[in-house]
Amino acid sequence: MGRKKITLIGGGQIGGNLALIAAQKELGDVVIFDIPNSEGMVKGKALDLMQLRPHDGYDSNITGTSDWNDTKGTDVFIITAGIPRKPGMDREDLLGINLGIMRDVANNVKEQAPNAFVIVISNPLDAMVYAFHKVSGFPKNQVVGMAGALDSARFRTFIAMETGFSVQDVTCMVLGGHGDTMVPISRLATVGGVPVTDLIKPERLKEIEDRTRVAGGEIVKLFGNGSAFYAPAQSAIEMAESYIRDKKRVIPCASLCEGEFGIDGYFIGVPTVIGSNGVEKILEFTLTDDEKNELNNTLVAVKKTVSETNL
Ligand code: APR
Repeated sequence: MGRKKITLIGGGQIGGNLALIAAQKELGDVVIFDIPNSEGMVKGKALDLMQLRPHDGYDSNITGTSDWNDTKGTDVFIITAGIPRKPGMDREDLLGINLGIMRDVANNVKEQAPNAFVIVISNPLDAMVYAFHKVSGFPKNQVVGMAGALDSARFRTFIAMETGFSVQDVTCMVLGGHGDTMVPISRLATVGGVPVTDLIKPERLKEIEDRTRVAGGEIVKLFGNGSAFYAPAQSAIEMAESYIRDKKRVIPCASLCEGEFGIDGYFIGVPTVIGSNGVEKILEFTLTDDEKNELNNTLVAVKKTVSETNL
């Protein structure tokens, strides 16, 4: 069996890091696709990454292109195409521009690799992953949005920073939409199995949840031009790796719910099993009344952005 083919649609900040991590993990050969205006940029990045290989000793090939034909037979697409959030813009402001891009991408992906597994990162995520699914007509197991993996990583980071204990031992999940209404489930967060609610006072934990909800915006403000890219790239790679290596990891992902958690017909962040069949299962569990209310709030926000796509 040959190597897997991983195609990154969008070779900007996140795309470049996706290429680096995918190659270093030897997930497969990497194609970085971007618009013709950026062809030189992605060809240059690909060459630069090829020349990193002798140090690390990995053999993945990395190429850059603006020709859709080069994406034929792709196993995994990771889509970051679009424009990133600028200061003062929320994710929804991006909708109009990125929707046009996503339509174009979905049609081309369908033509080149109808059986591929597709991870969408472009913002506003909840609408973009929905748009990709609608336009491509792909089965629901082949399409997933990257949000919860990143939001949970942020929540884990802040809990580790607060307690001073290893981030490796912090587990937690953030459900819901990828916006300010996301739902960090503190009740189920643990450090090495010890409930976080026994380690951090409620009012402090509330501050950590609030910081998690706006963690993307905190970075946007600091950058002044663009949005986060290292952690988003790593988060999407975890999902791609679980698919490629059939790990069946349980990761909060924006998956199409059809009845799970009482949600029907929307992509929203829920615990998702990713294996060689793509989105293999959504793990439902009993929520408290407060958590249900929060999930309802986030669903209202998701429905609003999705309705703006007119799809
Ligand atoms: N097809 C392919 N690539 C495209 C297209 C298109 N139709 N339109 C734009 N792009 C490319 C841009 O040329 C650019 O190289 O997408 C890339 C986006 O890269 P950056 O601007 O560096 O943005 P990045 O920080 O990587 O974020 C990408 O992910 O988290 C989200 O909000 C973020 O929506 C943004 C996306």
